[in-house]
Amino acid sequence: MSIIFNEKTREFHLFNDNISYIIKIFKNEQLGHLYFGKKVRHRESFEHLLKTRQRADTPYPFEDDPTFSLDNVLQEYPTYGTSDFREPAVHIWQEDGSRITNFKYKSYRIFNGKPKLKELPAVYVEKAEEAVTLEIILEDTYINAELYLLYTIFEEYDTVVRSARLVNKGSQKLNIESVMSMSVDFLDGEFEMLHLSGVWARERELKVRRVEQGIQSVSSTRGASSAVQNPFMALKRYGTKEHNGEVYGFSLVYSGSFLAQVEMDYDRQARVSMGINPFDFKWLLQGGEEFQTPEVVMVYSDKGLNGMSHIYHDLYRNRLIRGVWRDKTRPILINNWEATYFDFDEDKIVQIAKTSKELGLELFVLDDGWFGKRNNDKSSLGDWFANGEKLPNGIKGLAERIVELGMQFGLWFEPEMISKNSMLYEKHPDWVLCVKGRNKSFGRNQYVLDFSRKEVVNYIYEMMAKILKDAQITYIKWDMNRNMTEIGSLALPAERQGEVAHRYILGVYSLYERLTSEFPHILFESCAGGGGRFDPGLLYYAPQTWTSDNTDAVERLKIQYGTSMVYPLSCMGSHVSASPNHQILRDTPLETRANTAYFGTFGYELDVNKLSEEEKEEVRAQIKFFKEYREFIHSGDFYRLLSPFDREDEFTAWAVVSKDKQEALVGLYQVLAKANLGFFKLRLVGLNPEYEYIVEGREETYFGDELMNIGLVFNKQYIEEGIKKFRKDFTSQLIKIKSKF
Ligand code: DGJ
Repeated sequence: MSIIFNEKTREFHLFNDNISYIIKIFKNEQLGHLYFGKKVRHRESFEHLLKTRQRADTPYPFEDDPTFSLDNVLQEYPTYGTSDFREPAVHIWQEDGSRITNFKYKSYRIFNGKPKLKELPAVYVEKAEEAVTLEIILEDTYINAELYLLYTIFEEYDTVVRSARLVNKGSQKLNIESVMSMSVDFLDGEFEMLHLSGVWARERELKVRRVEQGIQSVSSTRGASSAVQNPFMALKRYGTKEHNGEVYGFSLVYSGSFLAQVEMDYDRQARVSMGINPFDFKWLLQGGEEFQTPEVVMVYSDKGLNGMSHIYHDLYRNRLIRGVWRDKTRPILINNWEATYFDFDEDKIVQIAKTSKELGLELFVLDDGWFGKRNNDKSSLGDWFANGEKLPNGIKGLAERIVELGMQFGLWFEPEMISKNSMLYEKHPDWVLCVKGRNKSFGRNQYVLDFSRKEVVNYIYEMMAKILKDAQITYIKWDMNRNMTEIGSLALPAERQGEVAHRYILGVYSLYERLTSEFPHILFESCAGGGGRFDPGLLYYAPQTWTSDNTDAVERLKIQYGTSMVYPLSCMGSHVSASPNHQILRDTPLETRANTAYFGTFGYELDVNKLSEEEKEEVRAQIKFFKEYREFIHSGDFYRLLSPFDREDEFTAWAVVSKDKQEALVGLYQVLAKANLGFFKLRLVGLNPEYEYIVEGREETYFGDELMNIGLVFNKQYIEEGIKKFRKDFTSQLIKIKSKF
């Protein structure tokens, strides 16, 4: 891994063993882009990669060189108004009404390591030698502003991480209309765009569309990254599949409204840009102030979508997730939400916890309904003290009883919200996000607290910290159940109202930062009405995210498959819930529910006291199995084998393979049974071709190359034994594979 700057040709080459990223300072002093992709050898000059050409209809900045137009050269951080008609990365209104900017090269710095981003989550290094960073400073002397572009390349991970910082060095007011985290141009646009879109209970479905001339984008205006669009986008070559082909991934480390877009121009060149959504965003940068964008993790893989996912999984579990829980074995939890909803008291909870303990569960999580006067979702958010009627001994008393049983205790909060019917609202009605003179829309009967205000964040911190200091709590589920409307703050002047949504997210991050540093032993799981804020920004603080409120095993195949495009299994909250399922009323076997939930953090969310003795026995065995396999599942490589999106009524399959390739665990799932199925074979991926493997339940052994090239054949044995299992809908099978050595 290295970054080389060639003074003569004024080119930067960032590379590690697998990828290259090449930047050139143009003759007009703006920053040009030459290449991003599979590694190319370093050479004295990459000048020949610079493609300029004269067109009758393109403007050009130099009178004597009509071949050089910003409209068709590849750029690093394009600006508006100086011969480029594509989308700029930055757009600033100035005091004289101009929106033209012209950021020219000033200087650079190359250093080992990766700096922290002020107030924002970011991937990190533990040792400076893990990565090298290039900081390029550009300046627009006319408006007296500087732009700091950061590029970090890692030794271990095939990624270039980018962000931008804008500094107002002068005295005029700069109104930032947009400031993207990154922009990168590709010489061609022969790509398909892949994104993760959905809605509550159907989060992160895979969508693929052809990149065509014009702009294609995904975005959120909800004040949260959202269940509807994830802050991720990939460009893949036609024909790229799970295990082969080229793909570029772009993942924004941010939890608020975002924009990810690709623009294909008349030359069929593609421009990708990503960052805070410019829609409804405005930031006033006074003299001396600076604005830091969130960062984008750009990944390149020539090993297909799985290859891309492995880079994200490894990077995010090793260098985004932080704290003691990054490397610690995750507890198997039981959550009372679907067991009781709001209808519980201390004894009922302890009864559930008692049985849970007997079954082998390790952590009891008390969900919504424990505070204020909360008996339904219409009241008490903001009143973070125990409901005396339900919990006469408070959270402290309940936690003691749970801990006495030999379990850990976890608690649900929804810190960013406020109910109209709450003591907090009576006292501080002005602490709500709203616009003076306008109606305040509800969402799930609640308002959003104005987290752009420091005093609001401080107040919530104090209330939470009091409980966390008082009671033995080792886990927090941080929920967030509605999106923002009437975005405004009563504490900010008119000229800063466009800043509220971003300031809010900074407020959320600051509360997370305070709580995680003050209570480092607590495991945080973020949640947003299911998976409505499943993003890298929150993973920095909370190592786990609740994947979806939809716990139906069949639906979860798609949800977990899509989520795994970017996010590792160790962060994917996944529970076994009751049957029929509460979201879609489907009956599925207990075995399939567990076989799906194993490929995540694993836990239960049902009333264990309602299980039959037989079911309890099965649950005991499941928990025992997961205790044996969890470290392996959470640290291994995840391979998607058969997609539920391609084969709706047939098989879905995935597998975890240990890093040393000694062990694999395959999950095979059938949605709808079919009569008279023929032979079936499942080709595995990621094994060592030389190793001889034992497949549980089979007499013969197989070499890795057989399992990968021929596949695991379900022939006579499958028909006689396996088919019995697969003759029903919603069936599944785990296949345990171990090398002989
Ligand atoms: C939405 C979450 O996704 C659920 O798991 C549960 O915590 C409810 N909120 C509680 O209100």
